[in-house]
Amino acid sequence: MAAPKATSPWLDREPAAEHPPLAGDTRTEVAVVGGGIAGLTVALLLAEGGRQVTLIEMDRLGRGATGYTTAKVTSQHGMLYDSLVSKHGEEKARAYGQANQAALALMARWVEERGIDCAWRRREAYAYVLSGSQTSQAAAEAETAARLGLPARLVHDTPLPYPVAAAVRFDDQAEFDAYAYVIGLARDLAAAGATIAERTRATGLDEGSPHRVETDRGTLTADHVIVASHYPYVDRTLVFARAAPQRSYSIAARIRGPVPEGMFISAEGPTRSLRGAPRPDGELLLVGGEGHKVGQESDTSARYRALEEFAREHFDVESLEYRWSTQDPVPADGMPLVGRLTPISKRSYMATGFSKWGMTNGTAAAMVLADAVQGRDNPWAGALDSNRLRPRASMPKLVQENVNVGWHFVADRVRQRPSRSLDELAPGEGDIVRHDGDTVAGYRDEEGRLTAVSPTCTHLGCRVAWNDAERSWDCPCHGSRFAPDGAVIEGPAVTNLERKV
Ligand code: FES
Repeated sequence: MAAPKATSPWLDREPAAEHPPLAGDTRTEVAVVGGGIAGLTVALLLAEGGRQVTLIEMDRLGRGATGYTTAKVTSQHGMLYDSLVSKHGEEKARAYGQANQAALALMARWVEERGIDCAWRRREAYAYVLSGSQTSQAAAEAETAARLGLPARLVHDTPLPYPVAAAVRFDDQAEFDAYAYVIGLARDLAAAGATIAERTRATGLDEGSPHRVETDRGTLTADHVIVASHYPYVDRTLVFARAAPQRSYSIAARIRGPVPEGMFISAEGPTRSLRGAPRPDGELLLVGGEGHKVGQESDTSARYRALEEFAREHFDVESLEYRWSTQDPVPADGMPLVGRLTPISKRSYMATGFSKWGMTNGTAAAMVLADAVQGRDNPWAGALDSNRLRPRASMPKLVQENVNVGWHFVADRVRQRPSRSLDELAPGEGDIVRHDGDTVAGYRDEEGRLTAVSPTCTHLGCRVAWNDAERSWDCPCHGSRFAPDGAVIEGPAVTNLERKV
């Protein structure tokens, strides 16, 4: 059987026409950093609201976290609402649900009005439990979600080919092709007169009047700055200590027989997330799950194998077509972080912490920030406030996370020298090894070429670990990722690992 392609179905196509990088020093009214769903949505809301907008993206539009999602458009985020009510109270949990429902409605309207060809279709969303002992959890979640005004009810049957004990069903949700959608937004953003600059990396920010966004292509001077770079490229409020990066995995399989109609997620571990995806040559089954903290799993390939085993156990799998993974910051208290960059910031904002539900959370964040720039009240801004202090909601998880990080800081410093040398690496293998009396992060590519970089993360100094499925160096502390040659793939680090060989 042919190996699956190491990408998502959304990105398996010709990339959209490229926008040129920033043409040197530039003055704008609103600078948006990040060309994923949150950045493109807020940019479009503001440009069509009459603002002069410049959006910069360090790589290509829609090819970061947005391109590697399972692209479910729903306010059902597992069984979340009972827990949100207990952590934040009824009012803020209601605001979260409303914000996500409003995001779904905006996206549906835009797909229709803008004529975006993105395989949009309405589907029911199910969060299910298999064990009878968990039925009361599902019943409580359905009751809470309905009370908060969400289209939720408890059911005992789903379109899945295996029985469930109970499920919370959300009606009239949606699924789509996330990349096609954001490229449609980019088209309309350009038509609205905004400047889009790809391959332009933001490297610094001087908050002032105006603000100055430093980039590798010149300085972008702006009255308002929105940092929508997934993980904020400038982290002035220690987001890394408040939102732990979680990696998760997906496969897309061709199966014999029908793909169940709906979107599904298990509420018990291990998480299994399913949906169908229409392709020109037939419907695929997507299976996601196997989440773990970034950099704390050595055999990442085993995660794909576990998803494949699950798919084969429950479906007649004909072939595996795609496999991909992504990561997302997951705030300790379960709410995204949306609002001012710091408590004293003026006209500079961030949006992050979408907990793997970035399609609606990212769109809702964009709606909140568009209102903030335009001086309008927003009913969800308080619940999502990036500078909130709710110790009761986040403290136990925060302590647990930061003990874990602290363990890495200490362990990295007392670790024994590696037993193997760089020369001993097999083709395709990466590891922490010895070289010239030094400890290095070494990799030998399939053609036998060796590279070695410093194993010390440029963020705060933890030791990176090899991710064999993605061929990257991942930091276990706050989730920075680096290519085998040390180039930053994901922050919070902004500086490449030092090249040794
Ligand atoms: Fe913080 Fe590496 S990401 S130390």
